[in-house]
Amino acid sequence: MNKIFDLIELKELAEEVKKISKKKNIILLFGDLGAGKTTFVREYCQSINIVNQVSSPSFLILNTYYSKNNFQVNHFDLYRVKDIFELETIGFYECLNQSNSINFIEWPEKFISELNKFEDRTLSIYFKFIEDNINQREIKLEV
Ligand SMILES: Nc1ncnc2c1ncn2[C@@H]1O[C@H](COP(=O)(O)OP(=O)(O)OP(=O)(O)O)[C@@H](O)[C@H]1O
Ligand SMILES: [Mg+2]
Repeated sequence: MNKIFDLIELKELAEEVKKISKKKNIILLFGDLGAGKTTFVREYCQSINIVNQVSSPSFLILNTYYSKNNFQVNHFDLYRVKDIFELETIGFYECLNQSNSINFIEWPEKFISELNKFEDRTLSIYFKFIEDNINQREIKLEV
């Protein structure tokens, strides 16, 4: 799936991810600074009625959101993570192996060899800017 999405249409993408995530619950979000990764996580969370607020995890590395039926959203930003030891410290592997959860990972390219170990549960989404158009993004979904 390769499509142009504006902010409103992100809902459609959230629905698609919801379907796929029953089998693949590790969602890798690729794209430059400001390409729309966090914005999409926020949209997804709205669509499942999470109870707490979605913010950019940039300073925290991991933010966790909850929906009513105990479903958990783990939202990682690996931009500032230095090494695998630091990943272990924040409970990265426990999160990925948790049942009843979905994991969104910004900047997955930093630890791609680790993430490749979970390949069978991974869905990749690529966010791209469009020239002379700040109101939309080109988004590709690779299952
Ligand atoms: N599909 C879209 N259409 C139009 N604008 C968008 C879209 N997605 C995101 N934006 C806008 O782009 C800006 C930056 O988005 P966002 O914070 O989600 O980027 P990011 O990829 O998470 O960046 P970072 O790598 O810095 O965390 C926001 O102001 C947001 O409103
Ligand atoms: Mg972000």
